[in-house]
Amino acid sequence: MNTVKESGVGQAIDRVEGHLKVTGKAKYASEFPVENKVYAQGINSTIAKGEIVSIDTSQAEKQDGVLKVITYKNAEKLKTFDKEMTAIGTDSIAPVLQSNKVNYYGEYVGLVVAETFEQAQYAARLVKFEYKKDPSAVIKFEESRSKAYTPNNGSNYSRGDMQKGLSEADMVVEQTYNTPIEHHHPMELHAIIASWENGKVMAYASQQMVDDATIAISSTFQIPKKDVRVVSAFVGGGFGSKLNLERHAIMAVMAAKIVGRPVQVTVTRTQMFTNTGMRQQNEQKMRIGAKNDGTLTALSHETLSHTSTNMEYQEPCGMVSKMLYNVPNNEVTYKLIPMNIQTPFAMRAPGEATGSFALESAMDEMAWKLKMDPIDFRIKNDTQTDLHENRPFSSRLLVECLRIGADKFGWKDRKMEPGTNRKGNWLIGYGVSAASRNSPYQKTYSKVILDLEDDGKVHATIQMDGTDIGTGSYTIIAQTASEYLNIPVEQVSVELGDSNFPVTPGSGGSWGAASYCNGARAACENAVKGLKDNRNIPQDEDVALAELLKRNQIKTFEAEGMAEPSKEFEEYSVFSFGANFCEVWVDKDTGMYRIKRMVNVGSAGKILNPKTAYGQIIGGLTMGAGMVIAEKTQVEPNFGNFITRSFADYHVPVNLDMANIDVVFLPEEDKIANKMGIKGIGELGITSVAASIANAIFNATGKRMRDLPITPEKLI
Ligand code: MOS
Repeated sequence: MNTVKESGVGQAIDRVEGHLKVTGKAKYASEFPVENKVYAQGINSTIAKGEIVSIDTSQAEKQDGVLKVITYKNAEKLKTFDKEMTAIGTDSIAPVLQSNKVNYYGEYVGLVVAETFEQAQYAARLVKFEYKKDPSAVIKFEESRSKAYTPNNGSNYSRGDMQKGLSEADMVVEQTYNTPIEHHHPMELHAIIASWENGKVMAYASQQMVDDATIAISSTFQIPKKDVRVVSAFVGGGFGSKLNLERHAIMAVMAAKIVGRPVQVTVTRTQMFTNTGMRQQNEQKMRIGAKNDGTLTALSHETLSHTSTNMEYQEPCGMVSKMLYNVPNNEVTYKLIPMNIQTPFAMRAPGEATGSFALESAMDEMAWKLKMDPIDFRIKNDTQTDLHENRPFSSRLLVECLRIGADKFGWKDRKMEPGTNRKGNWLIGYGVSAASRNSPYQKTYSKVILDLEDDGKVHATIQMDGTDIGTGSYTIIAQTASEYLNIPVEQVSVELGDSNFPVTPGSGGSWGAASYCNGARAACENAVKGLKDNRNIPQDEDVALAELLKRNQIKTFEAEGMAEPSKEFEEYSVFSFGANFCEVWVDKDTGMYRIKRMVNVGSAGKILNPKTAYGQIIGGLTMGAGMVIAEKTQVEPNFGNFITRSFADYHVPVNLDMANIDVVFLPEEDKIANKMGIKGIGELGITSVAASIANAIFNATGKRMRDLPITPEKLI
């Protein structure tokens, strides 16, 4: 059937849900027409640490349309953490409004429920809080180093002997790299519509992981998981901020119970700075030792970050330093400062995005010290074994990425000596960096429903609770069904994001594509196998799906499937790899610079749809460029609020900032990773981009930029 060749796995088809999105028919969480719905607005604290001493709700309660003002005084008692510094997870409980204690500026201290959104917003401003401020609030990272502790998550690591490695080195690079707080700002605001019926919760919520969201609601309210349904059919971006269930969602569920009506909470853009997670500030100290011939002898990566005063999150910045290069002596350590700022959490490529900025900048510094080409230096230290896990990589084409990228980019034209490539006022520089991203794959259930239509064609519906956070899940799952059922993609429907559907790990950590598609594959294979077995048709006999249903004398058939990592998978390290190349032009007088072009070469297993995959990589490159040119959340040092709290002051790249981008995927199928040969790409694209730009700036100017973002005044 030649149609399948056009729509099956690997084809660059348009997004199957694209027309729904551009015509406004795709329903996002806040768009479901739930009857009798009311609106709620969260109120944020205006101190960083202390206690609420009084609350006056009288003015707010008098307003038209106001149904309820909820504060710690009248909130439902929820499950709270049993210990201080609980590690935050994607299914964590999210207790809120449980006491008069304030832990950070912007923490929710109340909620107003009203008939309309405007009434709720207005009345929320009329609730008066008086606070007793605790002057011991920790809001200055730089002045709080002495408070740092080693996190309890056991992620400190070493192999070999770092001191010995350094003593064997001819050259040592020892530098510190700083990255600021950054925020993920998906276009779709966090939102939920929650309701109760007969003790059961129904929630339309913008979440990346539906199953974990049901766990979070059920465990926070101490009700059975089966009594919670979460629907997250379309998600307008997540980037990690929607991995876990945030507290606005719990407030909505609580309010719905209290007022006995469905309650909608849509978090404001400003609240997305204080209440939906962020990437924390990192100070990363790198030490690298190498022989004169470029052989690495030692590598250490020390990260100092911050967490909140009641929950622990550590971005695994040292991840890349443990596995990317062939270095016998290696040390990765972490320290955290508890601060009166909201708990940080995963933001796109947590660990790699920031860790690779430090590692790949330091590698460039060492190459320069050694007077070696930075590509040759990386290739010299390549390894096919993951020395951290002490097992082989399932596949690793990093050297190929570097070589092919160099060729495509025209690396041979790079001048070794900074400041020597000039065009008028412009100083031109080339930079390179290597990228790696863990490519996990997790147990996924899926269901397929086959219907023989009157026109003789079979229509297939695939169901699973997985989500499409803008990544293209709907499309690649439809392509998978098309491939394994041998029917055109037009005859496939995909239904996602409902906790009534089979359980998946959700969208996060770059495991979505491999997990969802292998889950769908398993269901489709089981369907075909079941239909053949029923009629004693040999499995290798090629029979069209419609014919199979006819021979079974049935018009509809259902099958379930499950895919999970094989034993072989566990014996290998499965990572995606890539290389970033970048050309920047720096104005020698003003420090203004332009990213002129970028080349990204990725080795990420089977590419299911080059069009959606390309979208993932250019999105990642843009976010990586954002780290360099603009993104920084600034903490106000006296009160602990963020100064940057809208798009007017938190800058992200726009089209004019972005370069000509060339994305190349190496043809690859990693059958150790999974049966379909898929690896992850959602986070590979952002990884090490920042270093490639900073390295290009060094090559242009001779100035080493170790603090992000690199704003023009730093280059004068
Ligand atoms: Mo990702 S930071 O796991 O959405």
